[in-house]
Formats: sequence, structure tokens, C-alpha cells
Amino acid sequence: MATRLDAATPAVGGEQSELQKLARQHLWMHFTRMSAYEDHEMPIIVRGDGCYVYDQHGKRYLDGLSALFCVNAGHGRTEIGEAAAKQVAELAFFTNWSYAHPRAIELAARVANLAPGDLNRVFFTSGGSEAVESALKLCRNYHRLNGDGQRYKLIAREIAYHGTTLGALSATGIPGLRAPFEPLTPGGCHVPNTNSYRWPEDRDPLWAADEIEHRILFEGPETVSCVILEPVQNAGGCFTPPDGYFQRVREICDRYGVLLISDEVICSWGRLGEWFGAQRYDYQPDLITTAKGLTSAYVPMGAVIVSDRVAEPFMEDTRMFSHGITFGGHPVAAAVAMANLDIFEREDLCGHVREKEDEFRSMLEALRELPIVGDVRGAGFFQAIELVKDQETKESFNAEESETLLRGFLSGALYDHGLICRADDRGDPVIQLSPPLIADTPEFEEIDRILRSVLTEAWERVVKH
Ligand SMILES: Cc1ncc(COP(=O)(O)O)c(C=O)c1O
Repeated sequence: MATRLDAATPAVGGEQSELQKLARQHLWMHFTRMSAYEDHEMPIIVRGDGCYVYDQHGKRYLDGLSALFCVNAGHGRTEIGEAAAKQVAELAFFTNWSYAHPRAIELAARVANLAPGDLNRVFFTSGGSEAVESALKLCRNYHRLNGDGQRYKLIAREIAYHGTTLGALSATGIPGLRAPFEPLTPGGCHVPNTNSYRWPEDRDPLWAADEIEHRILFEGPETVSCVILEPVQNAGGCFTPPDGYFQRVREICDRYGVLLISDEVICSWGRLGEWFGAQRYDYQPDLITTAKGLTSAYVPMGAVIVSDRVAEPFMEDTRMFSHGITFGGHPVAAAVAMANLDIFEREDLCGHVREKEDEFRSMLEALRELPIVGDVRGAGFFQAIELVKDQETKESFNAEESETLLRGFLSGALYDHGLICRADDRGDPVIQLSPPLIADTPEFEEIDRILRSVLTEAWERVVKH
């Protein structure tokens, strides 16, 4: 799944910059085939401004992925840095273990106010995996406090990504990410996702929701703790829910006493045009996990937002949630999140996404005239293009072809043309786009121009060849 950019970066030789040397010797990049950079430069991004970033040679790239679905407010917002500096001067750090501090309190209240329904209690973490890990533990613990201690299983969807720590990884449904670390935390069960592009035409649109019920019954409802789903599933390429999907899932969860976690590490903070993805699809989860856009990733922060019903048993008598992370609710991160949300409100970024979504989508839809484009799907500023060998039959690429197409050509070519986006094959091969929420017509046109040219070349050079 690593994005391989070595094809787009110069071969190493002669004079290497000091940074290149140090990177090669010391930096261990995540999800990266390090050997690919033995003889090619590592891409080093040195500066960001709005929707653009610049590499060590001064070359400009359109950040069509918001630096991994993160920088929702765009790069280079100095006022966020100023808020951080002010907080450092006032109180650089204190923990949320037994102590509160003003920024964490203010942020918790603000998040609770924006979150749907009675999701009023906020448990801060340092990132998305920790948020998922915390939510899974919280669900188990909730059931235990209610005398249902045998409920430990989770139900997630195939190909979904929910993080990499051992508990969160048991929710992640990508075999290649799980296999090297098995056995994982017990209790991870997987059901089909909503990739309706690959469904028979006459399939009941709520089939995938009903599969959750089948799985709960198969496992035994008394053993199931929670269902964890993204509003729009990222891995596999922006699978949107069919109409009524989440309402059906909610009914099923209620029927069997199972908690519903909406994993919105990507889908919150305007990505889908609302504060939270659950608001876009009009459902009420018991918990929301979030991270990334909460601070627009100016500093790391995540959170679990919990309903009154789920929080209540933990608030009684001598009870507590015996779980914590030193940096959860970090004052500087909380101050940054507050400044980030100020920008969201002042510039109405959610409204901007709602207003511009159709324009962005129509531009991508027009790419269907290229023979390699099989499907275009997604919501808000979170869209994917599925690549195929044959539009009629929807024939996809085998593993070897996909490797040649994505890592042998597309990732490098897109980067070379100045577009950062994701060419991914955790499911069938897709290109994913998730630009900063300030993106507008000029950025859409640039994305269109680059995609059109690179996908046309991919068809000629890699597929037809
Ligand atoms: C839906 C979802 N959950 C969890 C995670 C894990 O977040 P992190 O990488 O911050 O640990 C991600 C990361 O992309 C994600 O997309």
C-alpha cells in the first residue's frame, strides 16, 4: 500500500544534500518501502501555503490529499501558530490525568456543542488510532459496568482502515496490514462494505446493513460490544452508504444492545460538508472517534466523543475509565484546535464544501470519458476514482498489474506533474482526492488537467501496452 514516489525523484549520485543523507541514514518512514530510496531521492516537503506545498528544490505541488486527509484549513495559517505560541507562554503542558486546564475544557465544550445529539463528553487522545483504541476499550468497559462483561467483540467492515495499534488493528479489515502482527486483540469480526459498484444490480441496497445483523446473530449478540464504521469508508476508495444504511444499522445495534462507533478520523471537520459525517447521513452514533482535521493537523490531537448514556456509568461512585494517554488534551493542541475551529466558523468552511462539492464532483465525473475510469464516488471534498481495464465489464487489475500501474507509473507520474493525491490498492486500484477545504475552481481545474493527462498516459503506456 506504500505510495512509491522514487520513480518521480532524481537518482541519487554525486552531490547529495545533507538532509538527503541524514534521511537515508536515520529516518524510518511509515508505510514506506525504504529500499525504494536507496538510489532515489526521498521527497522532502519543506513548506506549505494554502492548497500548495513545496519540496526541497522549490518545486510546487497541489496538495490534493490535505497531507493525508489532515490539513482541512489549508497550509500556512500563521494565526494557528500564534495561538500555539500564546499557549506555550501561558501553560505549555499539563496533563488531563486528574487535572483540567482551560483550553481542554473550552475545547471539550465546543466539540460537544457541535457534535450530534447527546454526544456531550469528550476524551482527548493524541491521534486517530488512539481514539479508536480508546473507544473500543470504552465500549467493553461500558458493557462490563452494565453486567454484560462477555461483550467484547467488535464488528467492522472489510478493507476498512481504523488504525494500527493492536486493538485498532483488530478493527482494520485489510489482511495485508494485519497478517504480519497476528494474533491481534481477539474479537475483531468483519462484514461486507458498501462497495455497490461491485454489487449485482438487483442487490437490495440495504444488504450490507443486514449483513451486520447476520454477523451479530452468528457471533451471539451477548458477545458483541460494538459496530465501528466510517460514514464514508476511506480504504477501497470512498465507499458511500446507500440511502437508509445507517438508519438500518442504528436499528440493528439498538435491537441487540450493541454500541455504534462512527469513526470520523477523516469524515469530520468539514470533509463531508458538515462538522461530522453522522450529520450528513443523519444518524446518531453512541461514540464518535476523530483526529486529523480537529487541529487541521497543525499539531497532533484526537478525541472520542461519547454519549451521555455511555458516559453515565463511569461517572458514578468510585468508578472511572481506567485508561489514559499522557498527551491527551495537551493544552497547546487544544489551543490550536480552538484557533482552527475559529477559522472554520469565520470562513464557513463547511458551507464552502457544500457549495463547491457539485462543481468538484462534476469535474471528476467528466473523467469517465477516459477508458481507464470505471467509477467516481465519494462525498464532499472526499472523492475517489476507481481504475479499470474495461469500463463495460468493470474488469479490474490483478496484483501484478496493479503494482505496475500504481507504483510503477501513477504515483510517480502524478507527483512529477505536481499533484499529491493517493493511488491506492488496498481494495481495487483507486485514485483518491481530498483537498484542503479552501480549494476552489482554480485548484479543481489544476487537478482535472493533471489527472486527465496522467490517466490518458497510463492507459496508453501501461494498460493498452
Ligand atoms: C478512519 C480512520 N481511523 C483511524 C485512523 C488512524 O489514525 P492515526 O493515523 O492518526 O492513528 C485513520 C487514519 O487514517 C483513519 O482514517
